[in-house]
Amino acid sequence: MSELVKRYTASVDFDKRLWRQDIRGSLAHAKMLAGQSIISAEDLADIQRGMAQIVTEIEAGEFAWSTELEDVHLNIEKRLTTIVGDAGKRLHTGRSRNDQVATDIRLFLRDSIDDILLLLGQFQHKLLDLAEREAATPMPGFTHLQVAQPITFGHHLLAWFEMTRRDTERFIDTRRRTNRLPLGAAALAGTTYPIDRAFVAAELGFEGLCENSLDAVSDRDFAIEFCAASALLMMHFSRMSEELVMWMNPRFAFVTIADRFCTGSSIMPQKKNPDVPELARGKTGRVYGHLTALLTLMKGQPLAYNKDNQEDKEPLFDTVDTVSDTLRIFAEMIAGIKARPASMRDALRQGFATATDLADYLTRKGVPFRDAHEAVGLAVRRAEELGIDLPQLSLVELQRFAPLVSDDVFAQLTVEGSLAARNHAGGTSPERVRAAIARARNLL
Ligand code: ARG
Repeated sequence: MSELVKRYTASVDFDKRLWRQDIRGSLAHAKMLAGQSIISAEDLADIQRGMAQIVTEIEAGEFAWSTELEDVHLNIEKRLTTIVGDAGKRLHTGRSRNDQVATDIRLFLRDSIDDILLLLGQFQHKLLDLAEREAATPMPGFTHLQVAQPITFGHHLLAWFEMTRRDTERFIDTRRRTNRLPLGAAALAGTTYPIDRAFVAAELGFEGLCENSLDAVSDRDFAIEFCAASALLMMHFSRMSEELVMWMNPRFAFVTIADRFCTGSSIMPQKKNPDVPELARGKTGRVYGHLTALLTLMKGQPLAYNKDNQEDKEPLFDTVDTVSDTLRIFAEMIAGIKARPASMRDALRQGFATATDLADYLTRKGVPFRDAHEAVGLAVRRAEELGIDLPQLSLVELQRFAPLVSDDVFAQLTVEGSLAARNHAGGTSPERVRAAIARARNLL
């Protein structure tokens, strides 16, 4: 091999990240080999002693990783053999790097999913705290980014909660399919030794076996699923980011974000830029890219293992890191968000946000909804001409468009009246928002 080919084919620079999983897998395999009398009890003891030393060396940063030895598996095996001799050479009995790496990746991903689920929970707790503080804070709800109807800020935040709740479900679901044992498949066709796969699975906490040896070493669909769940999660955080960026703009001024999540400009002294949400929005693209990379990596591969699969790691690792960091930083950032209720109310006043409430009022008085819709449209136009909000129109003025209006209408046209009236499951009334928060806390 030329230096170039060595460098091209080696993966140790990035797959050494799997060292803990690799050692965990090897120890379970060795224990099974000894239990089945395929290797001796002394060999097992030697392997355990050698691996313990390797763990110490790696943790201390004293392990000499070598590109010559291609990948994490060969690096560790070689070192083991140097430390304990023949027992190290017996470790690979009944095993191949193909089922070994598939096992390592699944263990790694399972651990990563558990971390991500924890981080998601922490974010959601902080989100619910904010929603609780803002359960009754009126803000405009938008469609087409035009003021539509009053909602509470708490209700808006609970929409974010629901989005991330489904993300949680997706990761839990992916974890189930990830948590199966490939070891025993060996290179592709299984092995001639009397192995006990169920023992290894139990030892490593897998919930079941990969049931076909070819499939076990070949497919990375679980990693693709993880990237798909991550892409969806990032899509959600990108949307939240977009809203935060917008809300921070002085034209909105709906929220402030703590200074430590913003940066200034090197030329414009007055700037406070929402860097963190902008970056989250930007990093979403790279996670989509990783999903596409893995799908493309897989699509042309004949069974069983192909070296293409070595390329699964960097996209996967970067996805794990990007999602984890995004969750960590959002949990902190959300705790430092302050609502600016006065600006939210101003925006509501400018948008005739209670127009639907007036139409509903007329409908309750017996006007068919379509007619009520039209009458209110005319009233809105009149208010616009006068430069005032709907509730500021006089009773006489309102009656020009809808004769059935009486002075009980004004209570319905207030923002508070509008909010309180939306009092059903999934609704935006402060009462419902508080109930939804209690339900959400229970789920967590
Ligand atoms: N480094 C390889 C990978 O990541 C390990 C498996 C190599 N197997 C082989 N037959 N060359 O996929």
